[in-house]
Amino acid sequence: MMAVGGPAADRPGGAGPGSADGPGGGAGPGGADGAAGSAVLAVRDLRVAFRTRRGLAHVVNGISYDVPPGRTLAIVGESGSGKSVGILALLGLLPATTQVWGSATFDGAELVGRSEDKLRQVRGAGIGMVFQDPMTSLNPVLTVGRQVVEAIRAHQSVPKAAARSRAAELLAEVGIPDPASRLDAYPHELSGGMRQRVMIAVALAGEPRVLIADEATTALDVTVQAQILELIRRLQDERGMGVVWITHDLGVVAGIADHVLVMYAGRTVEEGSAAEMFGAPVHPYTRGLLGAMPVVDDPRTARERDPLLTIPGLPPDPVALPAGCAFFPRCPIRADERCAHEVPPLTPVAGGRRHWAATFYSPEGA
Ligand SMILES: Nc1ncnc2c1ncn2[C@@H]1O[C@H](COP(=O)(O)OP(=O)(O)OP(=O)(O)O)[C@@H](O)[C@H]1O
Ligand code: SF4
Ligand SMILES: [Mg+2]
Repeated sequence: MMAVGGPAADRPGGAGPGSADGPGGGAGPGGADGAAGSAVLAVRDLRVAFRTRRGLAHVVNGISYDVPPGRTLAIVGESGSGKSVGILALLGLLPATTQVWGSATFDGAELVGRSEDKLRQVRGAGIGMVFQDPMTSLNPVLTVGRQVVEAIRAHQSVPKAAARSRAAELLAEVGIPDPASRLDAYPHELSGGMRQRVMIAVALAGEPRVLIADEATTALDVTVQAQILELIRRLQDERGMGVVWITHDLGVVAGIADHVLVMYAGRTVEEGSAAEMFGAPVHPYTRGLLGAMPVVDDPRTARERDPLLTIPGLPPDPVALPAGCAFFPRCPIRADERCAHEVPPLTPVAGGRRHWAATFYSPEGA
């Protein structure tokens, strides 16, 4: 194992995420290559806790990132790591009793603590969302056309007829054949891939500047998944939209992300440019996630390729987070007492350009 982040790479004063020179503070997606400061969505030290019978469940514990126009941020982590809650919190979509701290600005305006009315204006027109399951997100008793028309008219005052022809255009844009007749179809009459495209059309109806796709392709077969990824990439190029891809599968985002943020137990454990994250991951957890990715033409199992690339065990209980590194109980190299007692801060990876990790140590050769 090796220590991560040499003294030269450490930021003086231990500047953390969200600071001017840290990840999420201008050196986030696109930050280091000239897009710093242009983020349309900027999240700083976001924390979310739920009241439960057993006490406060600390589900998001200080997440920071930037989403510049035209760029794609991937947020990756196992089930329960807080990916969705972190998004729902900034959109005001969690129960009113939820505690949310930190900041999330859209176009410079604060979202945390904003009134429901104002947040409703941001949802759809500012930030569009596509969720995993279109059967629960689409209304089963309304035609596809009506749902797209309503989404258009929620954000623009257009007559019904004009909205209907715009709806047909949107369905064509997302690759639905014969869009005019599909307007009269009900969601159950469409295939899973087509429903997902309708969801994207609904999300695009308000012409959002940021599109958030939360496990948007998880339920789809690989071919349809590839089509949807390609579709979003194309729409992003055409519209200059920022995109946030949320997934538990690093393989999905390998070809589309500019910047990757890996979450574990509500914290960022590693983040960086896609090239650095996929080329030289240093956090044992990221390496475990990458081990779950199939390697083409390699008949060996992940464990045979690299014994560190498996993650047995479960994430910690958010009501009783460990005092030290949250990954400690599962870490294959859990190096010393320091890991058990100190939370590793997110620090620059030695030799990296746009790459940070929250681990005291990393496997040799990482
Ligand atoms: N309303 C709630 N009250 C209490 N706990 C909640 C609530 N909503 C979510 N949680 C908990 O917050 C944690 C994070 O959930 P979240 O949905 O963000 O996970 P995720 O990373 O999106 O996982 P997945 O990949 O399964 O979608 C989970 O432990 C979940 O049980
Ligand atoms: S226990 Fe945590 S800090 Fe220690 S080596 Fe493992 S991941 Fe890094
Ligand atoms: Mg989720």
